[in-house]
Amino acid sequence: MPLVSEKTRIVLKLFTPQRRKPDPRHAIPETDKDLSDKTIVFTGGTDGMGRLAVGMLYDMGAHVVILGRNARKGAELVGELEKRGGRGSASFQLCDLTSMQSVKDCAGRILVAHPKIDVLVNCAGVNAMSETPTGDGFAMNWSVNFLAPVLLTRLLLDRLRASAPARIVNLTTDTAYLDKIDLDSMEMSADLGLQDSYAASKLALEMISVDLAENLAGSGVTVNLQHPGYIRSNLLRNLRGAERVMQGVMRVMASPTEVGADRIVRLVASSKLNDVSGVLFAEDDRKPHHPEMGDVAKRERLAAITDKILSPWM
Ligand SMILES: NC(=O)c1ccc[n+]([C@@H]2O[C@H](COP(=O)([O-])OP(=O)(O)OC[C@H]3O[C@@H](n4cnc5c(N)ncnc54)[C@H](OP(=O)(O)O)[C@@H]3O)[C@@H](O)[C@H]2O)c1
Repeated sequence: MPLVSEKTRIVLKLFTPQRRKPDPRHAIPETDKDLSDKTIVFTGGTDGMGRLAVGMLYDMGAHVVILGRNARKGAELVGELEKRGGRGSASFQLCDLTSMQSVKDCAGRILVAHPKIDVLVNCAGVNAMSETPTGDGFAMNWSVNFLAPVLLTRLLLDRLRASAPARIVNLTTDTAYLDKIDLDSMEMSADLGLQDSYAASKLALEMISVDLAENLAGSGVTVNLQHPGYIRSNLLRNLRGAERVMQGVMRVMASPTEVGADRIVRLVASSKLNDVSGVLFAEDDRKPHHPEMGDVAKRERLAAITDKILSPWM
């Protein structure tokens, strides 16, 4: 029996100084740093750790297709990357993850433009406190953190299969461990639940990712999850009141953005992970999944609910 429960460990960790530099044990070998024949579709590449990860992948020679909601920010980033020179290339596709139609349109353009997709990184995320639903009527957290990445993955899946070996990397959070999914209320409320849905939306993504990894076994397409650690970024910009004060403390303790970016790039590029799928990486190490992952009936029900919600865009 551990002295401290997993829940206590996670909460304490938020207030403990985090790693300042990437873990040298997991440094990507030079031989894995040539991504010149790879096309990487990347959401959330316009800010935070995704922005740095995109730069690192570009420097390794990949063609990075950056998906974002802000065309100006995207064009500036592509311009910035191109100025660096080197072997990489980059393009931008407008994709607002609060609109399922925007995700569908974007996936359609990607399929036309890219005959091969080697990696899909679902990095975009929000921790929204807003109680206003998106135009589609979903809570912001459920839309951006769960529905949109699941839809994008499904729309690109045949192309990923045809491009195998290929990888899907989904960003999650350790705090998902503190939550659980209430499928009854998910089915009953059209918005899927507006309050405190950040951790639950990430847990749902984790459950669907594990299902997908099982379904893709033997296909050459792997699916893994990364909790990047507590990383300095813009994620907590929406916190209010006492939580805003907490955010100040956490910001001082958090790892520099590069550390999170490095962890994402490892899941994209490390050849040590060629045959690894369905695994949750928490910071630098593998971590057992949330206890709910063992509840296969719950996972099946979540998948059925998700299919129904996304059917208009499939
Ligand atoms: N930071 C942490 O400590 C931490 C811990 C655990 C997990 N994570 C996860 O790590 C991932 C990266 O987060 P971060 O910390 O780097 O956050 P961030 O600095 O806030 O960056 C979030 C990214 O998501 C994009 N995004 C947000 N809403 C979007 C929408 N509606 N449509 C399209 N793109 C949208 C943002 O685009 P704009 O540039 O347009 O704003 C930005 O590129 C997230 O999935 C987050 O949940 C972070």
